Amino acid sequence: MPLSSVGIVRAVTSAEPPGSTSSDPPPGIVVLVSGSGTNLQALLDAARDPAYGLRILAVGADRDGIAGLDRARAAGVPTFVCRVADFPTRAEWDDALAVRIGEYAPAFVVSAGFMKLLGPQVLRDHVVINTHPALLPAFPGAHAVRDALAAGATRTGCTVHVVDSGVDTGPVLAQAVVAILAEDTEETLHERIKAVEHPLLVEIVGRAAREGITVTDGKASIP
Ligand code: GRF
Repeated sequence: MPLSSVGIVRAVTSAEPPGSTSSDPPPGIVVLVSGSGTNLQALLDAARDPAYGLRILAVGADRDGIAGLDRARAAGVPTFVCRVADFPTRAEWDDALAVRIGEYAPAFVVSAGFMKLLGPQVLRDHVVINTHPALLPAFPGAHAVRDALAAGATRTGCTVHVVDSGVDTGPVLAQAVVAILAEDTEETLHERIKAVEHPLLVEIVGRAAREGITVTDGKASIP
């Protein structure tokens, strides 16, 4: 029976199950990146404070030579690269990525500027939180900032959501709004979006680690 037919897609439970003690290590996550990694940096900075309650176990990428991997190495976090081109099929890449992530046994995964659609195996094995630079369901896809400008929208923003099998369709956890200015370019608007995206992602990922996430009937909540 598909999990969705029983209403609960997946629940990640609290960081402190019965019997745990405060000396247990906090839950860990794997972060996936494809580019500059400024959202990753915000998470790395937050995770330096033990009170944040979360460890970044590893950073994975779909390509080499990106600043996001440099940021992870500079913070002493293990990295791995899993390139689509290294596998005969997309399905085999999906399987391999699920295994690479699983080696770290994360509580959940954060897709922070990871520019590949995650496949069914990754999504079966792992709960994934994504950050997207628009107010979903408006402007899904890889060019959300450009699309909002082209549409003449007066406001846009960012969305932190749980990933499902669609393109930026998963249940929303939180959003922040950014006004679009007449003089905005894609670059200036994206920079202002990132200024609100970083603290929002840090807040929601931290709460998800400390309190757990529940996805029921297509709606996501952190208790
Ligand atoms: C972010 O705006 C994210 O929402 C989008 O890609 C951007 C990644 O930026 N998916 P960075 O690599 O975190 O700087």
